[in-house]
Amino acid sequence: MIYKAVCIPGDGIGPEITAATLSILRAAGAPVEFEEHPAGVGALEKGLDVLPESTLKAISRHKVALKGPCTTPVGGGFTSVNVGLRKRLNLFAALRPVRSLKGVPTRFENVDLIVIRENTEGLYSGLEHEVVPGVVASLKVATEAACGRIALWAFRFATHRKRRKITVFHKANIMKLSDGVFRKNAQQVHREDYPNIDLDDMIIDAGCMRLVQDPSRFDILLMENLYGDVVSDLCAGMVGGLGVTPGANYGEHGAVFEAVHGSAPDIAGQGLANPLALLMSAEMMLHYLGDQHEDRSADQVAERIRRAYEGALENGEKTRDLGGELSTDQFAQAVIARL
Ligand code: NAI
Repeated sequence: MIYKAVCIPGDGIGPEITAATLSILRAAGAPVEFEEHPAGVGALEKGLDVLPESTLKAISRHKVALKGPCTTPVGGGFTSVNVGLRKRLNLFAALRPVRSLKGVPTRFENVDLIVIRENTEGLYSGLEHEVVPGVVASLKVATEAACGRIALWAFRFATHRKRRKITVFHKANIMKLSDGVFRKNAQQVHREDYPNIDLDDMIIDAGCMRLVQDPSRFDILLMENLYGDVVSDLCAGMVGGLGVTPGANYGEHGAVFEAVHGSAPDIAGQGLANPLALLMSAEMMLHYLGDQHEDRSADQVAERIRRAYEGALENGEKTRDLGGELSTDQFAQAVIARL
């Protein structure tokens, strides 16, 4: 079985890491045929919308996409392609696994965390306005429907993956209504449907302090949109940085796989980018296809890729962000040589 998927190279380092990742997937015999579609600055340069309808339609048709990072201008300009894509396709659950890798020394050992982020509302509702000159307001939206949906998804995921505990990070002491709804829904799903999975909740500031003191006390972290964005990068820092932290955005009708990091304009075009986070996202995509189609061959390819990059890292074959010497392409070749 060959699956069709959309590939969005993205901006900045996106095209470099996408090319490296696709070369590894091809060499590993991944059963996926990619159809390339633009989004972001790359789409604008082609005279298209920043998030073209044709790209959205292609993802809806194939139901799976591998996406490079897309630049969002700061303080003005077009709204985020990444946030827009998640909303338009209703990709409500972001999953970001964070685990220590042999050959990537960090302050922490044996980190094995999963961040689950509600992807469609919260402060990323995009509802901002100037009330009067000099006063602006950003609306934080929390609905019972979206909070209940992400809570149910998180508990289902925990059960499927045999994880033991979910911790909700929130600020319901201050945002009593919005974060209150988020926390309440998690408690309700736990009580009514999943009492066998432990549920804990923490005010996010204290939670972050505890996280960097001892990540082993946490398992799955569940939170709303903005907190999930910030805490994912915090967790990435515990295992070697953004170059090793993959991600996926799941909806009822499809999934988009992308690294947690952005387009890294500071190193774009220099062959310095680490393609591993996108490769690990592609590994998640293969497992997703394996699960969806009960196709163990997709899982086997994913396993082979994982063993190859783990072997390369353990042997010191790494990009500069991890303390190594290799360029983006050299790292891809090192992984391919170990497949
Ligand atoms: P960033 O994640 O692009 O970069 C932060 C730092 O990490 C930089 O020093 C960068 O060089 C480094 N870095 C990131 N990925 C790396 C990799 N694969 N290999 C080696 N080093 C890596 O975050 P920044 O600079 O805040 O954002 C840049 C742009 O990316 C912005 O326009 C932002 O909106 C966008 N962005 C897009 C995301 C997406 O497409 N999902 C996610 C986050 C940011």
